[in-house]
Amino acid sequence: MTSAFGPGKVILLGEHAVVYGAQAIAGALERGVTAEAVPAPRCRLQVPQGISALVRKQLRCAFDAAAEATGRPPVEVRLTSDLPISMGLGSSAALSVAVSRVLAEASGERPSRRRLGDIAHAMERCFHGTPSGLDHACSLSAGLISYRKAPGREHGSATLLSPSVPLELAILLVGARRPARTTIAELRVRKERWPERYARIFREIGRISAEGREAIEEGMLEGLGDAMNVNHGLLSALGLSSSALDAAVHGLRQAGALGAKLTGAGGDGGAVVGLFSSRKQAERAVVRSGLPGFTSTLTGREAARR
Ligand code: PMV
Repeated sequence: MTSAFGPGKVILLGEHAVVYGAQAIAGALERGVTAEAVPAPRCRLQVPQGISALVRKQLRCAFDAAAEATGRPPVEVRLTSDLPISMGLGSSAALSVAVSRVLAEASGERPSRRRLGDIAHAMERCFHGTPSGLDHACSLSAGLISYRKAPGREHGSATLLSPSVPLELAILLVGARRPARTTIAELRVRKERWPERYARIFREIGRISAEGREAIEEGMLEGLGDAMNVNHGLLSALGLSSSALDAAVHGLRQAGALGAKLTGAGGDGGAVVGLFSSRKQAERAVVRSGLPGFTSTLTGREAARR
């Protein structure tokens, strides 16, 4: 039996704007998806229980793309995950990275990161339509990255960042949300109607990501926190927040977060992230929120499972 792990991701700065070419910053979570491959008569997926018909269809499409790309090795792939799904925490990218790696290895390959990225990107299309590639770039890097996608190009470029101090995060799950592709498509309609206004906001988000990146490299957590707060305001201006997301963000700030924002596609639910000075403080904020949630540390080294 072989197995592979794909970490989930949290976007600290730049979601949505990244689709239009702005820089984004994201880090790999300690939580993720594990894919195990056991010998079987043919290449197949053991479909997890309790998923919706839509997710099952997307999963079959994604698995088929990876199986096709790796010559359909005779294994059954079994998935386990400690990552909430459809919450903006990169569960589909984590799954795509874990499955790409386990199938490529089962075929006798020693796949490069580029090769895994190609397979994972093909899988991600089944879940997201036209993803920016940020999610699986982050999962593949297993670290903290700055990412930029050139518009019209399939692949973006990721740079691994080295924060001089660890980033202690609290992640709260605010509730079910519409599919990310719907939220992204609705934003695209608004952007096409009022292109200049929306382009200005995307540009500003890109600048804030660049400032946040500098703050990370200099260990200026307060500067990063402020960038996250302002980024949340701009996501709100883009129509991507909700009263429940706003309340969770404010709760995290009251609990001492240096900065807090929605993370991922947002819309009517999903997740929020808060930056704290210590893991203890982050853990206390999760408990105090009364919402389901967890903590994770971004160190810049490869995400270690705790
Ligand atoms: O699927 P989510 O919620 O992690 O959103 C992905 C982030 C977006 O920037 C909204 C889309 C993308 O492809 O980058």
